[in-house]
Amino acid sequence: MIITVTLNAAIDKTLEVPNFRLGRRHRSVEQRTMAGGKGVNVARAIKRLGQPVIATGFAGGSAGTRIVEQLTEESILNDFVRIREESRTNTAVLDPTNGEQTEINEPGPIVQEAESQLFVDKLLYLAQGAQVVVFAGSLPRGLAPDYYAGLVRELRKLGVTTVLDTDGEPLRHAVRAEPSVISPNVLEAEELVGHEFNDDEDRTIAVREMVELGAGEAIMTVSDGCFARVLEDGGSTLYRVRMEPLEPRAAVGSGDAFLAGFVSARYTGSPPAECLRFGVACGAESTQHLGAGLIDPREVDRLTSEIEVEAIEAPAEVP
Ligand SMILES: Nc1ncnc2c1ncn2[C@@H]1O[C@H](COP(=O)(O)OP(=O)(O)OP(=O)(O)O)[C@@H](O)[C@H]1O
Ligand SMILES: [Mg+2]
Repeated sequence: MIITVTLNAAIDKTLEVPNFRLGRRHRSVEQRTMAGGKGVNVARAIKRLGQPVIATGFAGGSAGTRIVEQLTEESILNDFVRIREESRTNTAVLDPTNGEQTEINEPGPIVQEAESQLFVDKLLYLAQGAQVVVFAGSLPRGLAPDYYAGLVRELRKLGVTTVLDTDGEPLRHAVRAEPSVISPNVLEAEELVGHEFNDDEDRTIAVREMVELGAGEAIMTVSDGCFARVLEDGGSTLYRVRMEPLEPRAAVGSGDAFLAGFVSARYTGSPPAECLRFGVACGAESTQHLGAGLIDPREVDRLTSEIEVEAIEAPAEVP
């Protein structure tokens, strides 16, 4: 079983508005409401890929009830801690004429101390039947920035693989707790290692630096694939995975689809290079759909042949 953790779950509302202009009145031509938050999106994609998954996290108020109902309608197993304050609703406006998306995210609920402890208990209970736990997204207010770090440490004791996709302070703390895998995008990785990347050499050094900070394996997604340092045959290998970008319908959530693909392939025992290839194919395929985590597995399989996976030597240590 794979578990996905979404601590700041949301109702994601997407409005399709052609020629969207600030300060004008518009009519949407298409609208869709889905349960969201990064971990929920990852769970949806894993479910589509046919692997067993349970979504957990916090859900509060009537928005929380809708999140749980929508997951259940999609046949995504879920077990959330109910909290007193209302889960957030995030609104996105997508302009189909240029593919631009404008997002307005609510800050979300404040989680109480007792609720945060209930979640620790729930996760440790669920994890007894899990091989992999994926933590994705931001922390809601009320949780300490080292909340993910604490959860990662507890799961390590149980021998569960921990995969982390977050940013800022929560990532900085959690990486020191030695998660099995982290998968930031470029901006998140630059913030974590503390400098900008100007070329491919910087990017390959960056994944090594992320491993030195504590991650077992580090993957940095980029718009045309990823850079990754993964464990293999008792050592570590550095991979560059490349794919010609597609014209996106909606690029948001491609990181979540990447992670779902990578984790699903790993769950079935595929070698690292194939997990990365499959992740990139899922990230790419997801850009062709409006809702986050929506992927078509047949299209994913078709795309895998267009992806180039290259094992590269890490550049020499910078003195
Ligand atoms: N237009 C595109 N065409 C093909 N593949 C894409 C495209 N955009 C993204 N991808 C793939 O999706 C993966 C994740 O992309 P990216 O680094 O942009 O994620 P992200 O910034 O974390 O996204 P989000 O947080 O919105 O889910 C990458 O590995 C990339 O190869
Ligand atoms: Mg991301």
